[in-house]
Amino acid sequence: MRALPHDDPRSLAQQAEVHCSYCNNGYPQVGYRDLKMQVHSCWLFFPFHRWYLYFYEKIMGELIGDPTFALPFWNWDAPAGMYIPEIFTDTTSSLYDQYRNAKHQPPKLLDLNYSGTDDEVDDATRIKENLTTMYQQMVSKAKSHRLFYGTPYSAGDDLKPGEGNLELIPHDSIHFWTGDPKQAHLEDMGTFYSAGRDPLFYAHHSNVDRMWSIYKSKLGGTDIEKTDWLDTEFLFYDEKKNLVRVKVRDSLDTTKLGYVYDDKVEIPWLTSKP
Ligand code: C2O
Repeated sequence: MRALPHDDPRSLAQQAEVHCSYCNNGYPQVGYRDLKMQVHSCWLFFPFHRWYLYFYEKIMGELIGDPTFALPFWNWDAPAGMYIPEIFTDTTSSLYDQYRNAKHQPPKLLDLNYSGTDDEVDDATRIKENLTTMYQQMVSKAKSHRLFYGTPYSAGDDLKPGEGNLELIPHDSIHFWTGDPKQAHLEDMGTFYSAGRDPLFYAHHSNVDRMWSIYKSKLGGTDIEKTDWLDTEFLFYDEKKNLVRVKVRDSLDTTKLGYVYDDKVEIPWLTSKP
């Protein structure tokens, strides 16, 4: 993906720009030229990123000649995954990105509540706090569709009506924790336009996507039934470079998209009620 020419929609550069287009006002809303399309801070957060990963994964499978290829998830909700996975920090690997926080290299533990400053606590305390945070964001603060998915966002609405709790923490905080504070906008992970340039982005979002699955499979969460949500459409390039149009309603069942999450992976925060 890195080696493909910039104008190939399957290149890493173009994939990052797909994200940028949906996040940095690249598209006007149909019928409302003055209003922009933004998939964050609203109820499109989970389904947009699921489709985005879907095509990214298909493209990777096509390029390596293995249609069964599956993206790994960065298992940051379990203690053993609470740091940047080492495969991403090998400087000779194509998974490496030079614009990350130098102070947050493994084995530095992730702070799921990170808000820009490193407060030094011991590892056992940090792990406990992180697990409690997961329980809060996924269980106690996810008691309605609005709290979990984010605020409704329909045609004609101003952008960014409001984040769901999981989008805010830990999704956003992990972006800020990973990005390089020496860059003007916390590039790459810490800002929309460049986040997709870091291969770690896709592993991060695979775990965000996994949280959506857990919400439905383990926590009794349900799909939103409003047609404004179900019929929202996005455009992506598929693995054959065709532009395709997809709907939120077709993202809800991962088995229809060809994948499931490994059920044997432990979910330690399920019992971390504060
Ligand atoms: Cu589209 Cu993690 O952001």
